[in-house]
Amino acid sequence: MATIHAKITGVGAYVPEYILNNQELSKMVDTSDEWIMTRIGIKERRILKGEGKGASDLGDRAVKQLLQKTGTSPEDVDILLCASVTPDMQFPATANIICDKVGIKNAFGYDINAGCSSFLFALSTGAKYIQSGQYKKIVIVGAEKMSSIVDYTDRAVCPIFGDGAAAVLLEPTTENTGIIDEILHVDGSGRKYLYQTAGGSVKPASHETIDAKEHFIFQDGRPVFKNAVADMADVSVEMMKKHNLSAEDLTWFVPHQANMRIIEAVAKRMGIKKEQVMINIQKYGNTTSATLPLCLWEWENKLKKGDNLILSTFGAGFTWGAIYLKWAYDGNKI
Ligand code: UT7
Repeated sequence: MATIHAKITGVGAYVPEYILNNQELSKMVDTSDEWIMTRIGIKERRILKGEGKGASDLGDRAVKQLLQKTGTSPEDVDILLCASVTPDMQFPATANIICDKVGIKNAFGYDINAGCSSFLFALSTGAKYIQSGQYKKIVIVGAEKMSSIVDYTDRAVCPIFGDGAAAVLLEPTTENTGIIDEILHVDGSGRKYLYQTAGGSVKPASHETIDAKEHFIFQDGRPVFKNAVADMADVSVEMMKKHNLSAEDLTWFVPHQANMRIIEAVAKRMGIKKEQVMINIQKYGNTTSATLPLCLWEWENKLKKGDNLILSTFGAGFTWGAIYLKWAYDGNKI
């Protein structure tokens, strides 16, 4: 029997209209456009404004665009997986809320949280369901309202993150396209460098946790930076070696967008040119689970069937990994 691969057959996205640029941020905390551009490489990020709006409002728009672009009826979706560290609420899962908003009625779904690697791990999970032969149409959506957990008085964290969502459709193929291989890792000893202290079962919300600002992101940036470079580079180079991919064979490297210096250092270790790397961090910042599909969405019109892509992430946990895939179609689906 022919091997079933899971191929991406479309990409949809949504970013909120409000742009928070470095000038505005410099009025909120003691920072500057020059510092942020030199140390992180972000010019602006999108922020979801409005009471009562959450990750599902972004995911909803991204999934609707995806279904419209691929001519897919909501009734035909089998599974929806939502990658997020900023779900609407602890439960029910944001995947369920998005299904309801989009009109996806014949599917099951759930959320996946692996820090900034959530989308990569969800893509791996979705591919396994496709390979089982039992499911034909799977939506993987990364949706984040990072602004809901960012302390806008903490200059070490607030320039980094932005809001956004993007989604892909996975379908089966027996051609040699789609997801070919993955290398995924978790090292829980890294959890002390990047976390949200309160709001979970260890430290439920209280007046004290709010006063101590423990519902915001805590990050010790330097060890995260060091591990991100080493681990993303190691895993991406390992993937290239495993599949005999030279720097020229690789059409695109799609890295998690956390810091321009991390992206450049990883690309250098892989021996690839900057022109082979998808980079949109300057426009959107770190949208956590949405960075990879936001890149695919922006570069879709340049992608061709058979292109070799390596997707790689690093995030809280620590979690990291790489997926090697062969792109399955030419150009933009709109
Ligand atoms: O997606 C999840 C994974 N996350 C990441 O990959 C993030 C990884 N880490 C990083 O990207 C970097 O560590 C940061 C961007 C977070 C920080 O950059 P850094 O070069 O590691 O700076 P630092 O934290 O070592 O701080 C250097 C200096 C400090 O001042 P002193 O102590 O040297 O006087 C900070 O107080 O820069 C200061 N600083 C700032 N200055 C102006 C920190 N944030 C700012 C700021 N504006 N926004």
